[in-house]
Amino acid sequence: MEYTGAILSDDVFNKLKELIYEISGIYFSGQKKYLLETRLSKRLSVLNLPNFEDYYNYLKYSHDKILETQELLNSITTNETSFFRDMPQLEVFVDILKQVVQAAGNNAYKKIRIWSAACSTGEEPYTIGILIKENFPSPDIKFEISGSDISGHVLDSAKKGIYGSYTLRNVSAAVLKKYFDKIDDDLYRIKDEIKKMTAFHNVNLMDVKDVKKLNEFDVVLCRNVIIYFDAESKKKAITNIYESLKAGGYLFLGHSESLHSITSLFKLVGLGKTPLYRKE
Ligand SMILES: C[S@@+](CC[C@H](N)C(=O)[O-])C[C@H]1O[C@@H](n2cnc3c(N)ncnc32)[C@H](O)[C@@H]1O
Repeated sequence: MEYTGAILSDDVFNKLKELIYEISGIYFSGQKKYLLETRLSKRLSVLNLPNFEDYYNYLKYSHDKILETQELLNSITTNETSFFRDMPQLEVFVDILKQVVQAAGNNAYKKIRIWSAACSTGEEPYTIGILIKENFPSPDIKFEISGSDISGHVLDSAKKGIYGSYTLRNVSAAVLKKYFDKIDDDLYRIKDEIKKMTAFHNVNLMDVKDVKKLNEFDVVLCRNVIIYFDAESKKKAITNIYESLKAGGYLFLGHSESLHSITSLFKLVGLGKTPLYRKE
């Protein structure tokens, strides 16, 4: 990361904070001012801008404001993820998928649709793909996985499907061998049989029109995302997701996230091992 030496004043921090909030729902509290300063100083360097006020004006008024907004989102989002993140929760996910498959019965036309909302660099949807291959070997059951994120940068990386050993730390040697090709000392590429199960989309969970592009899901995983939102943004994102689920569909949040005091749209059906919600 490059440092320009520019200081983010309280006044400009507040303007940037509001702009980011309006676009993405992500809320930067006063304690996170330094984090924002660090994350955005690279943009000042790239654009050759002397201070954050000029950067704010560039975002608001320049010809390139749409492109720069995407760069802003790439810079300020926290994209931490890994393969097989929170395995106890994924075990519940497989159990739920078994129920969904059973409910679909012998309907040969029925596709089971799963959405990894805010999928970052793709580890979550590809983990789902591997879990499906391992648990539902019959070619008669059709699955479709969608992965989406607000950041174009992470989606580009998801589409490439190339990963280092750190993000693969929870993958067993057998699964690594079966579903990845080693392309370098520390680099692995996800195999096409998993890749082709997933389609990636640029979707902002705050944006009704954006979210409407994706619908009729049996299961949605929206893990470790709403933690960055305030209560109002959480409600907006969850309401949008609710509309994208089939009646009876399931929603998984991250293990530290909850809909308590956010919305009563969903019925809480899992507790303890994982917060699990159902659309009635
Ligand atoms: C910490 S990652 C979580 C990745 C994955 N779901 C997991 O649990 O491992 C959070 C992701 O949420 C995305 N995000 C943040 N705000 C968003 C929004 N308004 N709409 C869609 N994605 C958003 C970020 O770009 C980031 O990639």
